[in-house]
Amino acid sequence: TRPTGLVIALDGPSGSGKSSTSRGVATRLGLRYLDTGAMFRAMTWAMLEAGVDVHDAQAVAAYAPTPRIESGTNPTAPTIHVDGHDVGEAIRGEAVTGAVSPVSAVPEVRARLLELQRTIIGDGDIVVEGRDIGSVVAPQARVKLYLTADPGARAARRALEEGGSDVAATEASLLARDAIDSTRRTAPLTMPEGAVHIDTTDFTLDEVIDQVLRLVQQAQGRG
Ligand code: DC
Repeated sequence: TRPTGLVIALDGPSGSGKSSTSRGVATRLGLRYLDTGAMFRAMTWAMLEAGVDVHDAQAVAAYAPTPRIESGTNPTAPTIHVDGHDVGEAIRGEAVTGAVSPVSAVPEVRARLLELQRTIIGDGDIVVEGRDIGSVVAPQARVKLYLTADPGARAARRALEEGGSDVAATEASLLARDAIDSTRRTAPLTMPEGAVHIDTTDFTLDEVIDQVLRLVQQAQGRG
């Protein structure tokens, strides 16, 4: 069944401004918000916690059905739990960031999370961010955005979020994850058909949010 409410899909690489933009747009429009990257991170956290070798695709596939992952969809206070543990902070740590791309490349992981994502999307009225939202998770989305930014700008933003970590190292880590995320066989990062591309390098967050809100208004006008 297709959602009857509004679905806004935001895809792009990390540091492109996806999360801040998605949350800002959802807050302004009174919509729910789903961070699918956090779900892949939560799955990765569960694998590390269980001692699964994240580079062993068979072991990752075998464990994929096990963890219970719950996403809270309030854009001003999103939450993520694994088997009842609040992992909101742990999933942003280096261990998870370093292991999330190989885990996300395993088809059984994607299938499991796709089911959860579609359940949460339900009837819509939600902004969903990720890598494959407009292409695979919600191809029916009314509005699809593809956000990018220059690698230097993305690394600088991420390093700032991470409390001043080294920009050059952050850029190397970003580019390594981009390479895996864009070339994997199942649901690679790609600009979905019908998406509007916004390069956020030279815009402030508020400017990007305003651009998205205008696009949503136009799409609503088209009915
Ligand atoms: O957006 P993020 O940096 O928190 O995402 C973390 C990783 O999760 C990213 O490197 C690839 C994976 N991911 C994915 O494969 N598909 C999604 N829809 C979202 C994230």
